[in-house]
Order: sequence, then structure tokens, then C-alpha cells
Amino acid sequence: MFSRKRIGGRTLTSFTQGTMIQRIGAGEYGAVYRLTEDLAGKVIHPFRHEGGFGYTRITVEEAYHQLHHEEEMLTAMCQEKIAVPEPEGIYLLNTTFGGNPTRSTLFSFRRPALMMEYIAGTKISDLVDDEFRHASELYVEEKGRAMNKGFICLDTNLDNGIYQRERNRVVIVDMGLWERG
Ligand SMILES: Nc1ncnc2c1ncn2[C@@H]1O[C@H](COP(=O)(O)OP(=O)(O)O)[C@@H](O)[C@H]1O
Ligand SMILES: [Mg+2]
Repeated sequence: MFSRKRIGGRTLTSFTQGTMIQRIGAGEYGAVYRLTEDLAGKVIHPFRHEGGFGYTRITVEEAYHQLHHEEEMLTAMCQEKIAVPEPEGIYLLNTTFGGNPTRSTLFSFRRPALMMEYIAGTKISDLVDDEFRHASELYVEEKGRAMNKGFICLDTNLDNGIYQRERNRVVIVDMGLWERG
């Protein structure tokens, strides 16, 4: 099935997912799913927790604008050869009310998802001892390279650095708290 929708001044095309839907991880703002062998999709949580029993609904436009910012940061950082996932664009993904990707049903909602290269490896927060120290250093180095190119990082979360042992490098995966200088 092929459909389009205008969101945030842009026409988004539906992404008909493959058979692999695996939840990779989630943070404060969104959740990331592996949708094909080499494609990951980030969806913004449909609700934001405001403390206690308070939740605010995140509109599709708000979700789109956040993902668009991240897409732009990924594009700019790829151009500067910083280790980040290559962006593939923002597509509409069928999701459940809770935000998980699903096949199209009467009860599914299409929400924007930032498609990007799937980065295989281990989150730095899952490492221990020498490997943890080594990967942390690589992460700081890679962020330093980005900052020298004029990017600004307000992110200290060790879930956002993926260590690739074989390539001896750390890929920065979450652009939510990055800005251009
Ligand atoms: N392209 C990717 N490839 C592999 N894992 C990823 C990718 N993007 C994000 N992740 C994992 O998913 C987690 C949640 O995504 P993230 O963008 O950090 O969400 P949030 O903005 O809510 O923090 C990350 O901490 C990371 O471990
Ligand atoms: Mg994160």
C-alpha cells in the first residue's frame, strides 16, 4: 500500500515495514526499532511524562519537527565525516496507540519515523571495566571531533554511543540534544 500525507510542510510517504520489527532501545523522547536488516526507525513517544500522573499528548507535527531537526543534524554530521547513522528520510510508519510499529489495522496510527542506518554494536552503558573505559574515551574523542567542526552537544547519556568492537570506534546515535554552532 502506498499513501502520502502532508505534515509540517512536507509530504511524507508511508513505509511498509519488512518482517523484522525489533525494539532496539528507547530514551526519554523516543523509541528506535529495527525495521529491516540495515534500517532503524525512530518514533517519538506519543505522550510526554510531566511528573506524577501528568502526561501531554505529542502531536504528529511536534514529533515531525523533532525528527526533522535530528535528520538535519545527521545529514550535516555525515558530511563532516562524524560517525553517526546515515539518514534515509522521514516516513510514515503504522504504529499502535502506544507507539510501536505494527502492520496496518483499523486501530493503527501513522506517525512520522526517522529512518536511518542500523548501527550494530554495544551501547557504552552496557560495557564494563577496560572496555567501558576504552569506549568512553572513543566517545569523548568523536564528540570532540564534532564540536571542533562547530556542532554543540548537550548530551551526556552513555546510551547514545554505540561501540563497534571490530572497527574500534563509537558511533553517536541520538541527535536530539545536538545543535549547530
Ligand atoms: N541508528 C541506530 N542504530 C542502533 N541503535 C540505535 C540507533 N539509534 C538509536 N539507537 C538506540 O536506541 C536508543 C534510543 O534512541 P534515542 O535516539 O537515544 O532516543 P531518545 O531521543 O529518546 O534518547 C539509543 O540510546 C540507542 O541505544
Ligand atoms: Mg537517547
